[in-house]
Amino acid sequence: MLEQNEQIDTNRLPRHIAIIMDGNGRWANEQGKDRLYGHFHGVESVRNIVETCAELKIGYLTLYAFSTENWDRPEEEVAGLMELLVSTIRNEVETLHKNNIRLSVIGEIEKLPKQACKELHEAFEITKNNTGLNLVMALSYSGRWELLNAVKKIAKQVQAGSVDVENINMDLLQTNLETASIPDPELMIRTGGEYRVSNFLLYQIAYSELYFTDVHWPEFRKNNLIAAIIDYQQRERRFGKTGLQVSQS
Ligand code: IPE
Ligand code: IPE
Ligand code: MG
Repeated sequence: MLEQNEQIDTNRLPRHIAIIMDGNGRWANEQGKDRLYGHFHGVESVRNIVETCAELKIGYLTLYAFSTENWDRPEEEVAGLMELLVSTIRNEVETLHKNNIRLSVIGEIEKLPKQACKELHEAFEITKNNTGLNLVMALSYSGRWELLNAVKKIAKQVQAGSVDVENINMDLLQTNLETASIPDPELMIRTGGEYRVSNFLLYQIAYSELYFTDVHWPEFRKNNLIAAIIDYQQRERRFGKTGLQVSQS
């Protein structure tokens, strides 16, 4: 029997994996606990998956931790999530740094509580020169918010005279997204059994391979990630071309 790790073609790893970490609340409810218990246990999965990506030498891991729409959840759940965010960053930053991981965020972080912003900025500063895994947390993020924001930024450049309308192209749009310096994800995973993208990386997933699993996020571990990567490696990515063209290139 091959070790699961050995079934991966290390020459064809996705450079960027994006994950919609869903199912915390349902997982907790299934055990008769409240939703925050699920979020709390979700942190263990984050730790395990970050470690696995670092070990596999994945370039970028983007984790959808809190969406623009999640602000509309009950006040105490939002407060609990924010506290968890602060304590997790505080507890994990040293380990991230030791493992050469660089932390960054996409999303409207000014909307987060002051303390969370402060912890985040400290963590960015500590890890900014690291050269291993780029861990990107999507916080107060949504694809539509990001696109709207990009439109506003470009409109200002036109207004200021630094950009001509005729010169607005895909590159300019891309550099005005939150993910300006991040390649598009080759693989997007959603846990928790739902088949939707819930406003995540709408522009960037144009050609991503999508992988859905019923496993709830608090139970998602290295073996589940490896299964997703193996599935990804069995797919033919055609980017609009024919299978014959792809196999001959
Ligand atoms: C994902 O789990 C975590 C966040 C969205 C913050 P959920 O909290 O959405 O859990 P379910 O989907 O209700 O089970
Ligand atoms: C998506 O999960 C957002 C995050 C995982 C942070 P949701 O639970 O908010 O998505 P919906 O409401 O099921 O679409
Ligand atoms: Mg959910």
